[in-house]
Amino acid sequence: MERNALCWCGSGKKYKKCHMVIEEKIQLHAEKGEIVPSRKLLKTPAQIEKIKASAALNTLVLDEVSRQIHAGMSTDEIDKIVYDVTTSHGGIPAPLNYEGFPKSVCTSINNEICHGIPDKEHILKEGDIINVDVSTILDGYFSDASRMFTIGKVSERAEKLVRVTEECVELGLAAAKPWGHLGDIAYAINKHAQENGYSVVEDIGGHGIGLQFHEDPFVSYVTPKGSEMLLVPGMMFTIEPMINEGSPDFFVDEDNDWTVYTVDDGLSAQIEYMVLVTETGVEVLTK
Ligand code: MF3
Ligand code: CO
Repeated sequence: MERNALCWCGSGKKYKKCHMVIEEKIQLHAEKGEIVPSRKLLKTPAQIEKIKASAALNTLVLDEVSRQIHAGMSTDEIDKIVYDVTTSHGGIPAPLNYEGFPKSVCTSINNEICHGIPDKEHILKEGDIINVDVSTILDGYFSDASRMFTIGKVSERAEKLVRVTEECVELGLAAAKPWGHLGDIAYAINKHAQENGYSVVEDIGGHGIGLQFHEDPFVSYVTPKGSEMLLVPGMMFTIEPMINEGSPDFFVDEDNDWTVYTVDDGLSAQIEYMVLVTETGVEVLTK
């Protein structure tokens, strides 16, 4: 791109005063053989504004679930809250009909790692731990986050798994820096999980997001520090490790082709933040 032309990102600034500096820096990393993001993974200021609105609605939906979730409620009722709150604000639940997913939200209880399908028969009971994973489309832009909930009084073992999972995500977030690498996040997460005797699920991970539900890069939480894609301002992705108390191995429900379970029946927890890499750090858009 010509130095004095208007930048491709639509900022209205000249290229030399906008993305030229970033792209020259990316080029230097690419020459060293590092994995670098393509231009389409760098969100423009206009896209960032739209995606932030989607993320704000996503947070609002999760807040409403947080207010209402209780023992005795079915996961289908959670699905209804997500559908109603999302659509009443002009959004669409991203999971609904996504590759055949039949509901508006994923609800994964105890030994379910992820992608649990809400159901009238699944009644929350005291002692359960549940992940509620909410993803929103607003005005064509995507957002995604999930929270863990403990139902009534839970065992110490469940309580600890949920606490450590939250610490893992916070440590991963703290390790995320512009011009660092995705592996820095993974390393921080995996280290803390292992120090607590837990394992991190390997083959299911996070993803780029914003213009689509799942974009590049795939985000692993078990890769080494300094490895994987370079983190560049404008990138958006999820930090969403799945932490198991036992084996990291899993199997997928044969009947519904979605729900992922721990192979040893141990508990699993997951928390998901959606983040934007900025010039100075990392901003959480929804959590
Ligand atoms: N929200 C999940 C994620 O974090 C995606 C689930 S796909 C669905 O990537 F179809 F099950 F919703
Ligand atoms: Co996600």
